[in-house]
Amino acid sequence: ATVPMVDSFGRHIHYLRVSVTDRCDFRCIYCMSETMSFLPRQDLLSLEELDRLCSAFVVKGVRRLRLTGGEPLVRRDVMTLIASLSRHLVTGALEELTLTTNGSRLATFAAALAGSGVRRVNVSLDTRNPDTFRAITRGGGLETVQAGIKAARAAGLKVKINTVALKGINDGEIEELIRWAHGEGMDLTLIEVMPLGEVAGDRLDQYLPLSLVRARLAQRFTLTDIAHRTGGPARYVQVAETGGRLGFITPLSHNFCESCNRVRVTCTGTLFLCLGQEDAADLRAPLRASAGDDLLHAAIDAAIAKKPKGHDFVIDRQRSEPALGRHMSVTGG
Ligand code: GTP
Ligand code: 5AD
Ligand code: SF4
Repeated sequence: ATVPMVDSFGRHIHYLRVSVTDRCDFRCIYCMSETMSFLPRQDLLSLEELDRLCSAFVVKGVRRLRLTGGEPLVRRDVMTLIASLSRHLVTGALEELTLTTNGSRLATFAAALAGSGVRRVNVSLDTRNPDTFRAITRGGGLETVQAGIKAARAAGLKVKINTVALKGINDGEIEELIRWAHGEGMDLTLIEVMPLGEVAGDRLDQYLPLSLVRARLAQRFTLTDIAHRTGGPARYVQVAETGGRLGFITPLSHNFCESCNRVRVTCTGTLFLCLGQEDAADLRAPLRASAGDDLLHAAIDAAIAKKPKGHDFVIDRQRSEPALGRHMSVTGG
């Protein structure tokens, strides 16, 4: 019998996000600086260690597991890890095993993912204009991602589109993105840009409150709040004109920390208790200290008890520098 993970604010932790690599084949302007330095390969947990770590969390009650990065599909042999973790789906210990990806390698991996019990993936796509796409990702190819989305759907995976709302960059295109995604039968979630890591641009120039976007969209669409939840922080509306669902992830304009159900592990085995705080615990040492998991479980318990109340992201003129030096690619969003 497992003792569920509950933090000091009474929040049950049953969702784990694991960044399997800090590397990415894109350099999105809100996520990375142009000259990112990545971790040396020898610092990474092996795939076997990642498996053991994830499985320890499953034993401790994690029901949903999401692999992120960086770009999870650039981690060498990542399918070995996914295939192995899928045993927890078979036993019913895990409800969902999924991925957040930039889509660049989905065409290659879609069939294998579906074959491993992955039922849906979240694909990041901020624009359908090839030039804007190249500018946002600093060199990424839109066509490859669109082919990836197509392949994923052909393989039977459900695809949700994640779009970061960027002032002056894709705000003129949001309505069209919604019509496209919904036309294809995909949900779309809009995300407010968060001040994580040093990036080239000014966050204040990028930040677009979704309250504003929603008000604008409400002039074109009939939006009805719905109770649909995926286990993530998005609040959904139904769009009458398209028949599709639209999500809003609003860490800045409407904080959702009181219902937080998640923690994050990096590819070096650091447990982050909150996306927007420094509070962390090293799990690599207890993982490597013995073949049994007792030390690991004790380290996880001690850390969960210290999960902070929430983030304190702000974007304003006084504090336009990032609240945290850590980049999103390290903790995986
Ligand atoms: P599902 O609801 O299961 O589809 O997933 P999700 O929306 O939780 O995961 P996804 O990877 O699609 O997350 C989208 C983005 O939401 C992340 O990249 C983050 O930018 C943001 N996000 C997810 N979880 C949190 C959180 O706990 N805190 C904050 N501030 N942002 C989060
Ligand atoms: N703010 C908000 N979302 C971000 N992402 C990456 N960096 C940021 C940021 N600073 C998003 C990506 C992707 C997910 C993994 O995180 O677009 O959807
Ligand atoms: Fe890569 Fe995703 Fe970061 Fe873009 S947002 S650089 S795709 S990890």
